[in-house]
Amino acid sequence: CGIVGYIGYREAYPIVIKGLKRLEYRGYDSAGIMVYDGKDVKLCKTKGKVFDLEAKTLSDITTNGSIGMGHTRWATHGVPNDVNSHPHVSNSGDLTIIHNGIIENYAPLKQELIKRGYVFHSDTDTEVLVNLIEEVQKKEKFKLGKAVQLALNQVVGAYAIAVFDKKNPEEIVAARLGSPLAIGVGEGEFFVASDASPFIEYTSNAVYLEDGEMANIRLHKPMKIRKIKDDSLVDPYIQELQMNLEQIEKGGYEHFMLKEIYEQPNVIKDTYRGRLHANDGIIQMAGVEDNLEKFLNADRIIIVACGTSWHAGLVAEYVFEEFTRIPVEVEYASEFRYRNPIITSKDVVIAISQSGETADTMAAIKLAKEHGAFVFGVCNVVGSSISRETHAGAYTHAGPEIGVASTKAFTTQITVLNMIALRLAKAKGTLTQSQYHTYLQELEFIPSKVLEALETNQQSKVIAATFKDAPNCLYLGRGYNFPVALEGALKLKEISYIHAEGYPAAEMKHGPIALIDDQMPVIVIAPKQGHYDKIVSNIQEIKSRSGRIIAVVTKGDTQVRDLADFVIEIPETSDALSPLITTIPLQLLSYHIAVLRGCNVDQPRNLAKSVTVE
Ligand code: G6P
Repeated sequence: CGIVGYIGYREAYPIVIKGLKRLEYRGYDSAGIMVYDGKDVKLCKTKGKVFDLEAKTLSDITTNGSIGMGHTRWATHGVPNDVNSHPHVSNSGDLTIIHNGIIENYAPLKQELIKRGYVFHSDTDTEVLVNLIEEVQKKEKFKLGKAVQLALNQVVGAYAIAVFDKKNPEEIVAARLGSPLAIGVGEGEFFVASDASPFIEYTSNAVYLEDGEMANIRLHKPMKIRKIKDDSLVDPYIQELQMNLEQIEKGGYEHFMLKEIYEQPNVIKDTYRGRLHANDGIIQMAGVEDNLEKFLNADRIIIVACGTSWHAGLVAEYVFEEFTRIPVEVEYASEFRYRNPIITSKDVVIAISQSGETADTMAAIKLAKEHGAFVFGVCNVVGSSISRETHAGAYTHAGPEIGVASTKAFTTQITVLNMIALRLAKAKGTLTQSQYHTYLQELEFIPSKVLEALETNQQSKVIAATFKDAPNCLYLGRGYNFPVALEGALKLKEISYIHAEGYPAAEMKHGPIALIDDQMPVIVIAPKQGHYDKIVSNIQEIKSRSGRIIAVVTKGDTQVRDLADFVIEIPETSDALSPLITTIPLQLLSYHIAVLRGCNVDQPRNLAKSVTVE
């Protein structure tokens, strides 16, 4: 979910609505807003997107007032409908809350409140929290800040909240545990939001609350930050924001996803800039250099991640083992954390996360730290929770990724992971000098080769038109390109709702081959290197069962061309780096299929960009 709040001298409504639109990547199944007009709290909530909320608000309520709070939701407790949408209001009508996260012990708290006469209108855990705050306030005659603090000390779960009390309408109280919260500090105005994007045009000064902190944000008074647990005061640390407006706008593209696909040549370059000096044979990343011994002495590397980041982890497994001969395991963060894994202080854990906020990945990191492992983060969002929780790390410099389907985050993650593996290989001597230098040179060529791969866009469009109505799709790859097959299938599923599976090409004969008939599109990633001959045999197996073959091949390939219905040619690169290129046409293909099917590419149903619940 995404939350936004404003308190100051401007009209709050447009600020909150625009902010919610920027935060829609965090969830978009329902939305709500409140504006305080100097006397009353005006509230409007709806199932659907912020766009729907805007239409409803304008017809239902007046929106004048310089205090406002809004929420865009990704449902956890209770179906997405108007009632379950935030903000939620306490029984007396005085308190309003917006909440991102989960209150795990909401059921017993709710029972207790019901016993005391509270009535609940929604199925949400949030409505329990706001009434709990009210109960504490009533019982002890506390001001809002104190009541929020005491209530939160009874709560188990994760939250970023903002609370407003119309009895004292000069203040918003915000708090965080496990879910991100940024406070924008302007002249005579404050903003509260899940990230800084809602307020970058108003102020470049922000305070990121740490876990377990709360803030009293008061008009005409300095902000107070304290620890929720023991009430101790914390000095607000005001940071200057790096983000700019252009980065979070579409810049002429029809969708964020397409813009982000096209940004890849540049952001891959940004990711290695200053770190890779191919001519001098140097790779230098501070987080790795400072901890080189830890990596070199590692018994094994465990990679934890979710979704597309997990696929980048799978690519890294092949790369690390090949380059460094260090054993690697790749785990879904959600499985790892719940299965009592064996972790020792001789393990290095690499956590990969675009957002740096994924709850399962975060929990896996905490578990690994408890067992004494050294944890290294590969995140895109600077200052994100995971980047702070890890012992060290390396950022991908992909810039804000807004399309829910991850594209440039994936390729920049692979870039960083390749650089780490190469750096370790150099230190360990597990690659020959000449191999090492060739890889470095090749990495520098990647952006121009990605650019070339992007030229297949038109062709992807044509192929998309042919297959847009397919109910199923199979993606096959071997070696380094097996994870690319998984990622290709995930992209198609996510945005076009076509059922797709990624498989190691050789495994096809152990099951999926049964699915193949003349209706089944099979996308085969078959670049010249690696196991080319083997994959040609796999293509023949599909062909003899009348499957429709779309093959991603190296420029100039003739063998596969003779067998496939469609070929997409991409430039040649070394085996280990090929996922950076082979991924591109698969992204484009999914994009065009989704567009032709009339799907909402940037905000596919049921998904969220950043999953901050477990
Ligand atoms: C969500 C997104 C995916 C993403 C995954 C992990 O499910 O929809 O695109 O790959 O979370 O996110 P992270 O931010 O940790 O990379």
